[in-house]
Amino acid sequence: MPQTTSATGALRSSSVLVTGATGKLGREVVDRLRAQDARIRALSRRPAGALPGVEPLAGDLTEPTTVRTALEGINTVLLLWPLLDAAPAYGLVEELTTTAPRVIYLSSTAVDDTAARQSDPIVQVHADMETMLRDAGLRPVVLRSDTLASNARGWAAQVRAGDVVTGPDIARTAVIDERDVADAALALLCAHQDDELDDAPRLLTGPEVLSRADQVDRLGAALGRPLRFETVPADVARTRMLADGRPEQLVDALIAASQHRPESRRVTDHVERLTGHPATSFEQWATDHAADFS
Ligand SMILES: NC(=O)c1ccc[n+]([C@@H]2O[C@H](COP(=O)([O-])OP(=O)(O)OC[C@H]3O[C@@H](n4cnc5c(N)ncnc54)[C@H](OP(=O)(O)O)[C@@H]3O)[C@@H](O)[C@H]2O)c1
Repeated sequence: MPQTTSATGALRSSSVLVTGATGKLGREVVDRLRAQDARIRALSRRPAGALPGVEPLAGDLTEPTTVRTALEGINTVLLLWPLLDAAPAYGLVEELTTTAPRVIYLSSTAVDDTAARQSDPIVQVHADMETMLRDAGLRPVVLRSDTLASNARGWAAQVRAGDVVTGPDIARTAVIDERDVADAALALLCAHQDDELDDAPRLLTGPEVLSRADQVDRLGAALGRPLRFETVPADVARTRMLADGRPEQLVDALIAASQHRPESRRVTDHVERLTGHPATSFEQWATDHAADFS
């Protein structure tokens, strides 16, 4: 585990592919890379508008032609894998072994290295992706992230409409600000060589273990009005999410996570060791994103 990595200049000779580049985490990473003068290729199916210094690439990560084009001339990949199945990554992994860039894979702190099967499909995908990348001989740098604070944006419509957020509950965990994950990813992207880094996954957590009720309570404090979380049974939550138009595979994965993901009491200092600053509190995240809920 390295101490803080200096970002200065290390990326100027790099061409970095960021996948999932328009998502809540991916766009934070792209913003940071732009400030480093890196050459950035940003992949998603529906790219964002033009940004100076960013080459947007429209395509599906599971499409061989997209993958080939995406990796052309690239020497570093920040791999965010947004699918709920690892099997469609075979083509990508094969292409990665041909082009051999450095690979930093964004995984989950919920991966249990001692378990034959993971707690739920979302964690299983990350465990399978890590295994697939390692088995292909790619020596990925694995960055495992706790639950992103940005998931709370899914409550915005309910918060605008009233004082109660309802949904399936999930075990407590040390929710992390996605900006801290982006800072940590940048620090790793800036490390000159992989052999500066040991092979152990980096475990990125927020500073405090929180339930959903805790998060909603802190969000209310940031907005200056009382909010509370109310658990709904899994079958009701499932029906609602499907009615909201969410894909069935995603809904089932979220319900499985709510039912089977174990509580995690782990709080690490890896954000600080990688970035030089302590992990941001959920209160701070909520304060900084209050406008999204008003
Ligand atoms: N959320 C968490 O708590 C958490 C915890 C640990 C790890 N992670 C990892 O972090 C990643 C990023 O999370 P996030 O919240 O930023 O996700 P997000 O906001 O849902 O963004 C997903 C991104 O992936 C792109 N995408 C989706 N399907 C694609 C496909 N088939 N081909 C190419 N691009 C595709 C999306 O753009 P288009 O739809 O335009 O393609 C978007 O840019 C997740 O994928 C997950 O693996 C998340």
